[in-house]
Amino acid sequence: MTVRAPNPPAATLHEPIRVGAIDCANRIFMAPLTRCRSTPGSDAPNELNARYYVQRASAGLIISEATQISAQGKGYMGAPGVYSPAQREGWKTVTAAVHAAGGKIVAQLWHVGRVSHPDLQVDGALPVAPSAINPGLFTTTANGKQPSVTPRALETAEIPGIVEDYRHAAQIAKDAGFDGVEIHAANGYLLEQFMRDATNLRTDEYGGSIANRIKLTLQVVDAAISVWGAARVGIRLSPISRANNCPLDSNTQAVYGALVAQLSARNIAFLHFIEGDTQIQHSHDGFDFAAARARFAGTYIANNGYTPAMAQDALARGTVDAVAFGRAFIANPDLPARLRRGAPLAAYDPKTVYKSGEVGYTDYPALDAARA
Ligand SMILES: Cc1cc2nc3c(=O)[nH]c(=O)nc-3n(C[C@H](O)[C@H](O)[C@H](O)COP(=O)(O)O)c2cc1C
Repeated sequence: MTVRAPNPPAATLHEPIRVGAIDCANRIFMAPLTRCRSTPGSDAPNELNARYYVQRASAGLIISEATQISAQGKGYMGAPGVYSPAQREGWKTVTAAVHAAGGKIVAQLWHVGRVSHPDLQVDGALPVAPSAINPGLFTTTANGKQPSVTPRALETAEIPGIVEDYRHAAQIAKDAGFDGVEIHAANGYLLEQFMRDATNLRTDEYGGSIANRIKLTLQVVDAAISVWGAARVGIRLSPISRANNCPLDSNTQAVYGALVAQLSARNIAFLHFIEGDTQIQHSHDGFDFAAARARFAGTYIANNGYTPAMAQDALARGTVDAVAFGRAFIANPDLPARLRRGAPLAAYDPKTVYKSGEVGYTDYPALDAARA
């Protein structure tokens, strides 16, 4: 079955688009970017975070930095949560400020699974995962850079609690004034760990067959839909990315094809695809992104290594509905205006990406300020 996006093809990235129930002023979206600057202790967003997002509110849609659904879901110092009252209040400040500036923002809901460390867990607990396989990563903690540990395989009976944590986080996001949620099912985190056969060796109903391996992701999507309705729920997928040492599935096309079919049946607002290896290489080798788009009724958001010219070309050819820019939005808070004027883009400084404070965060000037 082929279903095309309800949006008519657009000539330029500057044309508005309706993403599910969210009206977006243009098709230049801000990709989710972890910046590790929430309030230490509470993991709540703060005024500085609000300023950062307001600076970028001219994006057609902001997808927030990844936001943990529970204390257990945390894998990065300084990353925000979306499960406590303090975090809800912090996000309220952010969403109100973005809306006042005319922007739209969805929350990216996240559980890192095995990409954590006991130093970041309550009482030094082991990180959890579908199976007890060490990802072979390093994590920055209060005790410095630490090698990853072998995670604990989740008991079958614990999994409904994880789904409930996602549902609860989706509700907190709603109470905090977001426009919707994006389920983070990409980049080697918990949901992707369940989907791929190298990281999921389970023999229960969440392992083995493709239907079993995509089950958790679909239950999480359904939990988000129960809070928001399908028109304000989207998902991020990275079928051919090895981010966070998550090996590719032995049958990528079948796994992600089955998932897209199920997501399409649920009529969710958007699919957000990382095309290629995240931040490393733009590619379509190993997964048929065009076929996924053709069978999905909602908005197709493309990401990963898109230059403005590539994005414009893909839009004109009708292969994407919108493009999410990551690194370009770090250094160019007014990216849509720059693209409209054909202005040069500033380069971001990788050294300050995960530091604290304003430097490398809120001190990238808009074009007019830079020229003045
Ligand atoms: C500093 C930084 C933080 C990132 N944080 C996230 C994140 O929180 N969630 C996510 O899904 N992807 C994250 N990514 C990946 C980006 O969303 C995006 O996929 C990647 O940068 C490729 O897009 P680009 O070529 O436009 O930068 C991050 C990337 C960078 C550079």
